[in-house]
Amino acid sequence: MTEEIEIREGRPDDVPAIEKLYPDAFPDEDLLPLVKELLGEGPNVLSLVGIVGKTLVGHAIFTMCGVGGQPDEVALLGPLAVAPAWQRQGVGSAIVRAGLRLLQTTGTHQVFVLGDPAYYGRFGFEPDDHVTPPYPLPEEWRGAWQSLGLRGDEPPVNGKLSVPRPWRHRALWAP
Ligand SMILES: CC(C)(COP(=O)(O)OP(=O)(O)OC[C@H]1O[C@@H](n2cnc3c(N)ncnc32)[C@H](O)[C@@H]1OP(=O)(O)O)[C@@H](O)C(=O)NCCC(=O)NCCS
Repeated sequence: MTEEIEIREGRPDDVPAIEKLYPDAFPDEDLLPLVKELLGEGPNVLSLVGIVGKTLVGHAIFTMCGVGGQPDEVALLGPLAVAPAWQRQGVGSAIVRAGLRLLQTTGTHQVFVLGDPAYYGRFGFEPDDHVTPPYPLPEEWRGAWQSLGLRGDEPPVNGKLSVPRPWRHRALWAP
């Protein structure tokens, strides 16, 4: 990529651009209700934007979640979107890496994601069978449930992922 990308936390004045980004990046899927609900979760979510010049070109959300009764020690990554004209130029990777670094400095143990292993594997995510997602996944999505430990050799957490209300819709966890 030739132009410099700035990654920073999302602000209220980014919302109109974020609301335009998702339908552009996901023409066949309506993620806006989820995104809007998550942005209303305050400090429970880390909302990161990628800016080139003055244009918002990417966005991701990390939601703080609990496992086995321990609140806020892990995070769930998603959704992640990059504007079509900016895809495959490192924007998504830059946002994910910035989020992982931030979460590491704030003591998050592990990050989970439901996504394509071919993409998330590049950040070190691996299929996870220690933590179960909030709703059972269809068999064909098993390999898409992945996690990444942020605390060195610490053993992975075990249990069921407890998510805040915006993620408690079965449809988000099925094709
Ligand atoms: C998927 C997405 C977030 C990736 O962000 P990006 O900025 O385009 O990707 P990056 O530039 O960081 O990474 C590009 C690399 O990822 C690969 N890649 C991009 N999208 C991919 C996908 N959906 N699956 C697998 N690999 C993918 C590319 O082949 C490229 O690999 P290379 O560097 O070896 O050539 C972005 O393309 C997007 O928003 N797509 C539409 C929405 C979507 O499918 N989101 C899924 C995440 S929930």
